[in-house]
Parts: sequence; C-alpha cells; structure tokens
Amino acid sequence: MRRIIWFAVLSLALVPVPLISQDQQNPVVIAVDAAHPGPAISKTMFGIFFEDINFAADGGLYPELVKNRSFEFQEPLTGWHEVLGFSSKGLDTPKGEMGVHAEDPLNQSNPHYLRVRVYEPGYSFYNTGFRSIGVESGAEYRFAAYVRSGGPKSIRATITDENGHELGSGKLEGFDGNWKHYETVIRANATEQHARLNLIVDDKGSLDLDMVSLFPVDTWKNRQNGLRKDLVQLLYDLHPGFLRFPGGCIVEGRLLTTRYRWKTTVGDIAQRKTIINRWNNEFDQRPAPDYFQSFGLGFYEYFQLAEDIGAEPLPILNCGMACQFNSSETAALDQLDEYVHDALDLIDFANGPITSPWGKLRAQMGHPEPFHLKMIGVGNEQWGPRYVERYKVFAAALKAQHPEIKLVVAAGPFPSGEPFNSMWATWRQLHADIVDEHYYMSPEWFLSNTARYDHYDRSGPKVFAGEYAAQTVGSTSSENRNNWKAAIAEAAFMTGLERNADVVEMASYAPLLAHVNAWQWKPDAIWFDNLRSYGTPNYYVQKVFANNVGTRIVPVTPEAQGRLYTSASLDEHTHEFIVKAINDSPKVTPAEIRLNGINPSGTAKVTILESADLNAENSFDHPTAVAPVSSTLEVKSGIIPVQLRPNSLTVYRIPAQ
Ligand code: AHR
Repeated sequence: MRRIIWFAVLSLALVPVPLISQDQQNPVVIAVDAAHPGPAISKTMFGIFFEDINFAADGGLYPELVKNRSFEFQEPLTGWHEVLGFSSKGLDTPKGEMGVHAEDPLNQSNPHYLRVRVYEPGYSFYNTGFRSIGVESGAEYRFAAYVRSGGPKSIRATITDENGHELGSGKLEGFDGNWKHYETVIRANATEQHARLNLIVDDKGSLDLDMVSLFPVDTWKNRQNGLRKDLVQLLYDLHPGFLRFPGGCIVEGRLLTTRYRWKTTVGDIAQRKTIINRWNNEFDQRPAPDYFQSFGLGFYEYFQLAEDIGAEPLPILNCGMACQFNSSETAALDQLDEYVHDALDLIDFANGPITSPWGKLRAQMGHPEPFHLKMIGVGNEQWGPRYVERYKVFAAALKAQHPEIKLVVAAGPFPSGEPFNSMWATWRQLHADIVDEHYYMSPEWFLSNTARYDHYDRSGPKVFAGEYAAQTVGSTSSENRNNWKAAIAEAAFMTGLERNADVVEMASYAPLLAHVNAWQWKPDAIWFDNLRSYGTPNYYVQKVFANNVGTRIVPVTPEAQGRLYTSASLDEHTHEFIVKAINDSPKVTPAEIRLNGINPSGTAKVTILESADLNAENSFDHPTAVAPVSSTLEVKSGIIPVQLRPNSLTVYRIPAQ
C-alpha cells in the first residue's frame, strides 16, 4: 500500500509536458554529427533482469513438470492427490494411503519424503503440475525418482489428459531397501496443455519416494536439468548485454530466514533446500499458496545461462536486509560476516581456480573454466542509513580482496525525491561504482523524461537503470497492459539512455517473464503458458534496441522535438551508423536524416516496429501483432529522406563510407 501511494504522488507530480505538433509539410531534419562520434557505449548497455516472480523459474524457465517434487512445501502434499475408486472396502475408498515422513530422509537439506502404503494392488495417485502439465506430441519426458522400498518392486507412471486418456507411460523397477535413483523416458503421443502424471503401485507393501520428476528431454542445449527451450530462445534473441539474477525482492526475502542464499542453490539438485517464494502471498488479489523455490534453477544455471546467451552475469546478493516493504529485518553489523563471505565465496565459485573450494564445485558441476564475473549487486532495492552502513562493510572486504569486481548499489525504489536524492548524494561521496535506479511509472512519465540523464554528473558513479516498465494503469496494478502505448513510451525513453551511454552503462526492463495462469505482477516482457510463449511489444522494443546498439554515441539533433525522439550511434564492428527515430504521433512524419561530415552510399537496413493502435497487444493467437519488420533503403548521399510511420520506432543502419 505504502508503495502504491508513493507511486501515485510521484506520477501526479510529473505531469507530462504538452507535445508540440509536427508540421507535416516540412521534413524534420535529423542531424547526425557523423564526423564526431562521441564516447564509447558499454557492451552491457541493454540487458535483462530475471526474477522468480510470476512462476518465472519453477513452472517456467525451469521446466520441471512435477510441482512439489521433494515434498518440502509448507502443505507437504501440495500438488499430490489420491485416486479414489472401487476398492474391496467400497466406492471412493483408496487402495492404500500416502503421507509425508521425515525419519531417515534422502538427505538433511531435503528432510521430507512421501511414504506410500499399498493395501490392494493398483493404488494410484497423481501430480497436477504447475497449473497442469503441458506435453507435446512426440516429445520425450524423463520420469525419475529416488525410491526406497519395503516390498513393491515397481511403479508405473502414465501421463493422461483431463479425461483420463493415456498419452504415454513408463515404469521404474528393481527397488530395494536403500534410497536409489531410478529413471525412464516416456514419449507423449499427443499434445496436451492440461495433463497430469499418475503413479500406480501394483504390489502390496510400503514404498518411499522423493525428488519425483517429469522433465522434458528436449531442453536448451539438451542438458539434463536444463532450461525451457522456447523461453531461452526468446532471451537469446534479445542479445542481452547482461543477465541480472536472481532478482528483485526475491534476493531480500520477506524475512532474513527466507532470503536468497546462493550456496543452497548449487550442487546436486536433490541437496538444494526448497523454500517459500516471497511472491507466494505478497498480493491479496493474486495469492499463490503453491509458490515455492526448488532452486533447480540455481546460481550455476544462471551463470551458464548468462554464458549461453552472451550476457555478462550480474548476481545480486543480500546485504543483511530483508525487504523494506515487508519486515525490513536487518542483520546486526557484527553478524554480517556470513553475508560478506557469501559474496567472497561467490567470486570464488564464478572465477576461482578449480583448486579453490568453490571453484572445485563449479568444475564438478561441469564448468572448470571461470564464468568471468565482473560485477556484483550489494542489496536489491535498498535505501537508508542502515543500508549504507552495511554496504561499507561489504565494500571494505570486497574491494580489498577483489578490486576488479564492480559493485552495484541501490538508490531505493523510486526515481526521484527521497530517499533517491540522499542515496545518490551518499553514493557520490563514497565513489560507488554503479547505482541501480528503478522506475515503474506512467507512459507519460517515460515520454517526458527522455532527457533525464542529459545533465547527470559524468565524473560520478555510473547508472544502471535496473528495473523499469511503463505502467498503463498504476504500479503493481493488475490492470496494467503490455500494450504499444507503454512500449513506444519506453522506446522514446531508451533513446535518452542511449544518448547518455557515457553515464548510463546498463538498463533492463522488469519483470521479464510471467505465466498467464500464475502471475503476480503486470506488465512483463514475455508471457507463457505450459507450452507456448510470446514476446510483448515491450519485449520487441528491448530486442530492437539491444540488437541495434553501436559501440560509440553519435551526437544527434533534435534529441526530442514534439513527438519525435532520436538517438544515434556508430557500430565500429560493422561500420554502420545506427539512427533510431520514434514517431509518437498518429501521423506520418516526413524527416530527413543528415549524416553530416560523411558521404555514404549503399544499402541501409531498416527495422520498423509500429502499430496504429496504441492499445495493440500481442497474444498466443497473434504473437507478432506488434513485432519488428525488416526492409532496406538505398542511400545515395548523406541526406536521406524518410517517412516516419505513425506510432513507430524505426532503426536505420546506414553504411558508414
Ligand atoms: O520487478 C518486480 C519488483 O519490483 C522487484 O522484485 C523489486 O526489486 C521491485 O520493487
């Protein structure tokens, strides 16, 4: 609530400036000072922010299909149900029973397991997955479990649709009295969004089960415990400069006991400790009591993902503070050792030699080479004196041992006022490396803040626009839309980020992913269900920018005029000038791009992202209703006449000859 009021006050204070209308007859001259390229643009300029919110990890990017596979949810049988039917004792009486036990568990981090007692052959129970289980015709699924048996020698598994039709089956067998891992592969014979996994035991006696898993064989790079292919593909296509993980408030936890601890997320997946997800009951209007974190997607997998998609890894660590919107619990200064050591050990895990304790684990997990970690976030969305005190402890230890690692610090949750101003004053005084700013504001705010960074101090800390998204209704409103109105405002704002790339080194839209049946927060860049996914117009704005960022800023005028917003850069690798123009008016705007100081000729590549309808959105049925379209343009001189389409973002890649 506190947060909603803050945002309302800020939005009202920042009334959009009236927009000057374009003269349709005279072309606007977009003057690019091609002879004087300016400062370098960081390779990390446009990246991605990943947080396990909206079922982005379990139930999303991490494609385990069994919910509560380790029986560690608060309600230990969440996701699991018995099949009732005829037994010798009558109708609706199960042929056995199941319950969660804790004596002699699989391991200490995974203290509970399922005990199944079978009284009559054919005892059956099932898992409903994350808002059902999605399977594709012809695809293979690895069914696996740890089993310890006091009698039964096998378990049959079937995948069935909503009507009970069998879509595939498999069997685990040969159990004995010790915990052992068993697996088989099931091929689905039909595509189904709402399947379930049934387990049937045909022998009387009792049987213990843990880490019950149904996992697609076909993952990104075909890895076991790998990631969902279509979602990683969407991330890969962005060509992001960095990957920030694991959030977000998830880093902080509502309490310190439920903060994100990276060390519990690496190594054998059966040893990773499941905890509640902090978004589980954050919003009364979107409760998700079944939202936990298995950490099957843990820090090793995040580093690997960053490497796979060509992004610099940016882990964010807890600095001894739980979420300041929740408990605001703070670790005493003399209790910070554990937190600081987590940071030092993480550098070891990512970069250390394989002879170091954490480097050795990285190698054992399959990556002897370092992950080349260069930056770490100290705290997520923190603010205030308690934060600064804790940062100082971190900085003293980290800078002494790892001066090569840049530290990202926070400016609080809002883009202006207090605590933003005092945090910035402190970070300037302390010569912080990079300051993370967050803005979840109206589209009008984005349009009227394209010059936000024009006058930032160039000699102070660099800026990380770490979380932003235009909110069509209001921050955290469940009515927010991922429409073109929001996306084009973000595009206009991003021209300001790019023009100021000498001070803004990184930027990321947030949040990244959302399950259509399990989300908590709107808007989000990518939406998915159990089988499909699509990028929103906002995703495509990110894609167009990240795929068309040069290596040096090039001065351009006008930067903003009426409803036109521009930026320009030079790509020294491809020898192209890249000019971006956003026409936020409903009319065609004639313009003339003038590349002053050069005389190019050849074929320019043109990318247009547009929609006449500001309410336009993408969907599963129309995933590319608003998506970039490529074309070419013959260039004969440094004066290039163009027609900027209504409500459009256009990128010109012009050969620099
Ligand atoms: O992106 C959603 C949330 O917004 C993040 O977890 C938090 O950092 C911010 O308040």
